[in-house]
Amino acid sequence: MPTALITGITGQDGSYLAELLLSKGYTVYGLVRRSSTPNTSRIEHLKEKIKIVTGDLSDLSSMVTVVAESNPDEFYNLAAQSFVAESWRTPYTTASVTALGVINCLEAIRKINPKIKFYQAGSSEQFGKVQTVPQNESTPWYPRSPYGCSKVFAHEIVRNYRESYGIHASVGILFNHESERRGIEFVTRKITHGTARIKLGLQKKITLGNMDAKRDWGHSKDYVEAMWLILQQPIPGDFVVGSGEAHSVREFVKESFLALGMNISFSGEGINEKGYVDGELVLEISKEHFRPAEVDYLIADSSKAEKILGWKRKISFKELISLMTTYDYENEKMKNHTNNYINETKKEPKIKQESIPEKIQGLSYSQNSILRTFIK
Ligand code: NAP
Ligand code: GDD
Repeated sequence: MPTALITGITGQDGSYLAELLLSKGYTVYGLVRRSSTPNTSRIEHLKEKIKIVTGDLSDLSSMVTVVAESNPDEFYNLAAQSFVAESWRTPYTTASVTALGVINCLEAIRKINPKIKFYQAGSSEQFGKVQTVPQNESTPWYPRSPYGCSKVFAHEIVRNYRESYGIHASVGILFNHESERRGIEFVTRKITHGTARIKLGLQKKITLGNMDAKRDWGHSKDYVEAMWLILQQPIPGDFVVGSGEAHSVREFVKESFLALGMNISFSGEGINEKGYVDGELVLEISKEHFRPAEVDYLIADSSKAEKILGWKRKISFKELISLMTTYDYENEKMKNHTNNYINETKKEPKIKQESIPEKIQGLSYSQNSILRTFIK
């Protein structure tokens, strides 16, 4: 069976791609970078099934070692500093990883085994200030952030290595895709998490930036299928992958509230816009969430992917929001329940110290009985 190496395996897409490849019988290696606290929560359930290798995309020697150790048939490069807003604060780091890191992947392939097939995670941010509507593989680039510029460089260097060395290297130009595993700093998860907490009475309001921006949103599970299909093609190339539907941030907010039975109404404009549910303020706008340059409108023309890969998204915009919002609601409810329980049990009298293992001394009766059940 084939072997795959995934960089960015600890991220949203990496975790879903690892699940997909494992289900197809692949041996999966995942590159994880060292951190002082655990960064593997999204792949905890896969740890017994995958082989973790350590390294860093911005370090050529580590990439050469990792490629030599794993010698994969397919190499999926998903690692990046992927948060657009952050890229203005850390432009150099963003470029080192998101742009130059791709050279390290390609050089490692060239030196160790040029037959390795390579997938590069391209982005609709490369289109930025869009020059055609919708965007396809021929739409010119106009990136609007250090992140977008880095992805354009990455795209062009992949093309160059394909043409210079005949490497089977492809780019998936993927439009926004989200999930229950999406990072909390991205607008979709910030909204679904906030909506869930408002419904539970744990938070009063959500504060956002530009609500007029339009994105072509899908579910990550569908998009990792496209990554795999791209590497199964006899001829490498570039593929635009998106749903072909654009929605504003405001529409996303509305649907997320609706998913939990709340009807949000908006009043005011720009920075003064506000959102209300049953007369209560639940949403406001703050300048701090606006970007120095915005990407206003992204919408994909994925006809090449549909024709050649046979790819089409399965999870709709509304289903995506319902999945994310319900997940956050259940998760926050459980967390809150557990916290309340711990706070309550802290008040109970403490158990006698003799005759109980050292590990569980000082706990309340209820905490103790739960731990004993686990220990059994
Ligand atoms: P993500 O959740 O932010 O994951 C990024 C991954 O890159 C994480 O595993 C992160 O590791 C890793 N990483 C960052 N810097 C690294 C370094 N120096 N060395 C090694 N690994 C490093 O992103 P995602 O949403 O899964 O996206 C996956 C890829 O697709 C990214 O390249 C992104 O730019 C691109 N993309 C995403 C979308 C989208 O809508 N999701 C659309 C188009 C393109 P840690 O866990 O240690 O931070
Ligand atoms: N993050 C965030 N937070 N965005 C906000 C907020 C807020 O409070 N308020 C409004 N927005 C707007 C942003 O200005 C942007 O127009 C839109 O919501 C989406 O922002 P993000 O969710 O941060 O995603 P992104 O579109 O900038 O980038 C994502 O998609 C790209 C593909 O188009 C990332 O996943 C990139 O890595 C990916 O390449």
